[in-house]
Amino acid sequence: MLGFITALLLMPISAFAVIRLGLVDPRADIPVNAIERRVAMPSLDAAVERRAPSLPGALDESDSGLIAGMAVYQEHCALCHGDVAHPRAALAEALYPRAPQFVRDAPDMPAHENLYIVEHGVRLTGMPAWGRILSQRELRQVTAFLARLDSLPTPVAERWKFQAREPADTSRRAR
Ligand code: HEC
Repeated sequence: MLGFITALLLMPISAFAVIRLGLVDPRADIPVNAIERRVAMPSLDAAVERRAPSLPGALDESDSGLIAGMAVYQEHCALCHGDVAHPRAALAEALYPRAPQFVRDAPDMPAHENLYIVEHGVRLTGMPAWGRILSQRELRQVTAFLARLDSLPTPVAERWKFQAREPADTSRRAR
């Protein structure tokens, strides 16, 4: 019994020591650890499923609503998650854990869970809490866009192609 309790106490102490003594590689440009990948994604799914409140009212999936969501996406998300002109984002390989690339692999969680992740971000990853930056309206618009990423109405898809080739941020082109 005493041995069992000692072992239980030693586990968190040694885990803390490994971290505190600098034995964990801090670099973001190393290959993603397979164990972390296997544990982290299901644990994020479970944590979000447990916490995300249901959607108050349906999302606006009209063409104009989706175009507004696409504009939010292009301005704030495409750099990490990619867009129709850049399916592999500029920062795709630069983050640890890597950012999922949505053109190839659209988010498959229910909309209320995506909204929760977008609003609150994901701790210890590059995913910011957009609730600190965007309005509730913009959060819902970009969530609607994500929900329809695989099945965009033609006018929205066409507009996206155009906007992805012509980034609104002209300062990026000027440099
Ligand atoms: C600086 C990079 C960065 C930006 C900008 C960014 N994200 Fe993320 N995002 C990430 C990373 C990294 C993850 C993966 C987190 C993880 O592995 O747990 C992620 C995860 C997500 C997920 C969960 C995907 C899944 O399948 O579990 C959603 C949804 C998401 N982001 C939406 C957005 C939206 C919408 C925006 C823009 C408003 C955005 N992100 C902007 C880096 C970013």
